[in-house]
Amino acid sequence: MRITGTGHASMRIDTPAGSILCDPWVNPAYFASWFPFPDNSQLDWAALGDCDYLYVSHLHRDHFDAAHLRRFVSKKATVLLPEYPTSELEDQLRELGFTSFLKTVSDEVHELDGGLKIMIQALTSPTDGPIGDSSLWVEYDGVRLLNQNDARPADLSVFAELGHVHAHLLQFSGAIWYPMVYELPQAAKTAFGKQKRDRQFDRTFRYIDDLRASYVFPIAGPPCFLDDELWQFNDLGDDEGNIFPDQWRFVEEYGRVGGSNAIVLLPGSVATVSLDRAAVQHPVPDVAEFFANKEAHLRSYQDRARPVIEAEKASWRHPEIDVLGEMKKKIEPLLDESIYLATGVGGPVRFDLTDEAGEVVESIVVDFPGKQVRPYADEKVRYRFRTGRSLVEHLLHIGEVDWVNSLFLSCRFSAARIGQYNEFVYAFFKCLSEERIQYAEGWYDEHQRHTDAEDITLGGWQVQRRCPHLKADLSRFGIVEGNTLTCQLHGWKFDLHSGRCLTSVGHEIRASRPA
Ligand code: FES
Repeated sequence: MRITGTGHASMRIDTPAGSILCDPWVNPAYFASWFPFPDNSQLDWAALGDCDYLYVSHLHRDHFDAAHLRRFVSKKATVLLPEYPTSELEDQLRELGFTSFLKTVSDEVHELDGGLKIMIQALTSPTDGPIGDSSLWVEYDGVRLLNQNDARPADLSVFAELGHVHAHLLQFSGAIWYPMVYELPQAAKTAFGKQKRDRQFDRTFRYIDDLRASYVFPIAGPPCFLDDELWQFNDLGDDEGNIFPDQWRFVEEYGRVGGSNAIVLLPGSVATVSLDRAAVQHPVPDVAEFFANKEAHLRSYQDRARPVIEAEKASWRHPEIDVLGEMKKKIEPLLDESIYLATGVGGPVRFDLTDEAGEVVESIVVDFPGKQVRPYADEKVRYRFRTGRSLVEHLLHIGEVDWVNSLFLSCRFSAARIGQYNEFVYAFFKCLSEERIQYAEGWYDEHQRHTDAEDITLGGWQVQRRCPHLKADLSRFGIVEGNTLTCQLHGWKFDLHSGRCLTSVGHEIRASRPA
């Protein structure tokens, strides 16, 4: 089995029974904030796109690059489609010209022609990606690969049960806006960033440990940031609170915990994986030297990207749009339908919109209890976002239904909150369509009615076995220190005395101390 690195989470898998192109991403995503690192635009995409199968793991824009798919990927390719609750991924691929779809069943092995086997696990909670994220398992002639991507299943047992995995490709770096955008003193941001970075590595090592594959490939990040306004988010080694460590830093950290089977794929690297070995060829003479010269790579990449960034910025402004009126039209009907998400948010969320000079020109409140969108009334709010008015104008202009997969991931905003992180805020703003809000409401309803009855003993406490967040098995992911339980899947903390979740609103845990 041959794996060609094609940048970020993208790869091409070649076997004698066919080729699978996964998540090709080249054009900048999220308001021209994220670019693939290292630059993959020089690859022979016409040849790479001439594939038998296409796998797009989910709709995040660093995995689903519509312009690139339209231009470079053969429309004869059969799409391996994850089993998602909404048809958005299929609809968007059909719009691009794809007509052949294999609709997979989650966690079920599908046998393709020539002895190629695949299985896709679809994760479908409202907090998984843009309502859905997935992993792809492939087997040919006894060699098995898991492209876990950036999905975070509660465990990897369904894959492990299918036999020893030879190549495990997974995310290790950050892909979020926390804590950089928060209006906090720099020292606090650095401390939170460091915690987050450590947690990302811990989670990755745990998955690696679960599967014990022959080789581990760090993929799906980090992106790089080429706009001057965001340049500071690149990890150039001088900020321990940076959440975007690169592949080489992963290799170093992994080495510290005894890991010695990591293979880094640059765009154009080719790894040939067999039952008992892996051989790798890189497009550069020395990979360590490539990473040592990262800043020079990024600076020349930035020079090439400048016209693209400027052209994108010029397309965002639509001053003719009545932002308050359009937000009312779009959001109020959804607030009316929302029970779980609106209750979960529990208060007004304020958007301060700024002009080009950074001055606030309009303040709008999405009032979840009052079920309306209205001008800010000099009131106390728990959640506040400050961003360019032009970005919101653009979202309204294109009818964007997922403000996480656009505005928030762009990191082109700042945020402040009183109290804890609230996942319902982001879940709501990724569900700005009838189809999505209905699905999310139904999911929370179902989730709340089926509380897990099983308990385990952990650190001298009796606690429910499944994490109240996304049901990770706490016998494997839970760590108790004093009276605090940390679930290492996403790092959420719970006070065992009161059962209170210390990370987010709601999500109480059942816990007691056996007498
Ligand atoms: S499942 Fe997310 S923190 Fe436990």
